[in-house]
Amino acid sequence: MDREFNKTNLENGIAGGLIGNRIHFFDEVDSTNNHAISLADNGAGEGEVVIADRQTAGRGRLRDRRWHSPPGRNLYTSIILRPDIQPASAQRLTLVAGVAVAELLSGYCSISLKWPNDVLAGGRKISGILTEMRVRGQNLDFVVVGIGINVNMEPLDFHDELRPVSTSLKEETSSGISRFGVAVDLYRIFEKWYWIFLNEGFLPVRDRWMEYSGLVGKTVEVKNRGVTQRGTCLGIDNEGVLLLIDEENRTTRILSGDMNIAKGR
Ligand code: BTN
Repeated sequence: MDREFNKTNLENGIAGGLIGNRIHFFDEVDSTNNHAISLADNGAGEGEVVIADRQTAGRGRLRDRRWHSPPGRNLYTSIILRPDIQPASAQRLTLVAGVAVAELLSGYCSISLKWPNDVLAGGRKISGILTEMRVRGQNLDFVVVGIGINVNMEPLDFHDELRPVSTSLKEETSSGISRFGVAVDLYRIFEKWYWIFLNEGFLPVRDRWMEYSGLVGKTVEVKNRGVTQRGTCLGIDNEGVLLLIDEENRTTRILSGDMNIAKGR
């Protein structure tokens, strides 16, 4: 593990901010999201973060997908939030996090966003976001935003099937990157976009998201529960919902799914 990546340094590096006001640092955890959910269930406050050197059961967005989480390489972190928003708005925090991660990683290499939760470098995945929430009655109790960033992964560290579609900051820049520096910058930039979202609404986030989006104007396919929808990607609306326009000029709003460039285009 790079020596500066430890709890004390992180506490000193982040001092004074909301995000990271309390750091739960682990050498190993099953999933930082699991741990953050259990802390939040037991009263952990807004801005507390869980960060680990290694996850034994890191989770991806799709049900059966794992997030490969070896030690000494990457960033695995989950942020606890308690915003005063409707449960229906909570998934917008995935897009808030996407913009924050894109801004952070753009300092190293060229980045694009793929709805809803992928951050890509050169078309390959460099970071993923998993947002989970707990609702109490009609109200949002808390949100956990989990972020994984491939920092110093080498091509051989990826499983065979992921290697062609994955990359890391090290691969993109040909130099080792400080996980400590990436973590501190991530919390700072996330905090900036979180405040913008809370104080100014989703529109500025949407506008920035659209600037990073790699698929606006392209013909895409979105798969959801065995149904595939095809059309030109118009981007996202002010609720973070994906907009497609088909060949008959009909606009469809898509709430969830897996989007890719349509085959044969
Ligand atoms: C995806 O792209 O499918 C989402 C991946 C999210 C991975 C991160 S790593 C930190 C946090 N803890 C988890 O178990 N998952 C998220």
